[in-house]
Amino acid sequence: MRSTFLILFAGLSLSACGYLKHSQPYYTYAPDMHYSAGLKAQEEGAMRQPPKGTIPRGFRPYSILTMDQAKMHLNPLPRNKENLNQGKILFNTFCIVCHGKFGEGDGLVASLKDWPRPLYPRPPSLQSEKIRDYKDGQIFHVITMGQNLMPSYAEKLNEEERWQVIHYVRALYRAKHPSADDLKKAENYIEE
Ligand code: HEC
Repeated sequence: MRSTFLILFAGLSLSACGYLKHSQPYYTYAPDMHYSAGLKAQEEGAMRQPPKGTIPRGFRPYSILTMDQAKMHLNPLPRNKENLNQGKILFNTFCIVCHGKFGEGDGLVASLKDWPRPLYPRPPSLQSEKIRDYKDGQIFHVITMGQNLMPSYAEKLNEEERWQVIHYVRALYRAKHPSADDLKKAENYIEE
């Protein structure tokens, strides 16, 4: 009976000293696991540089360097309803703010030219003879690389989407410059 009290008393006083608290282990079992030598993400030395000359999976390096080279690239997509509709959606999402509904350079940014100071210069018209005479590859190059104040859209539009937008830019030109044949067809056109 007496010894039971002694043990109890000893236990109580030890815990009062914090001796039995587990905030700090009394001794560390397997210290090489406890204090890991592993690196934390983002820590210096943890971010490994990829070997020279490697590219991410699915990435295709862009090989067009000049406008002259760009001329050689033809639109690989057929001009069909699907590509035109897709191009329209993309144009009206990404290009319309600056270039306007018909690409005449009268987008929203241009309309804000006096408010309260010019926000952005009026972009050139895509209805110009210059763009009419551009090869599809040249427009592709502008969208991919950007040009002066126009930023690159390579991050937003994949290659297929860029070619679709180009089909639509051509359709916008044709809508404003219809041939006699186009007008004749339009007269007989019945909405499906
Ligand atoms: C932020 C506004 C802005 C957006 C959005 C924009 N552009 Fe442009 N774009 C410009 C400006 C400004 C220029 C003129 C750049 C220069 O001075 O060379 C230009 C030039 C161009 C040209 C060359 C015109 C020429 O005469 O040299 C083409 C083609 C073109 N844009 C197509 C597009 C297409 C297609 C999109 C949508 C994917 C688009 N742009 C989105 C502002 C924009």
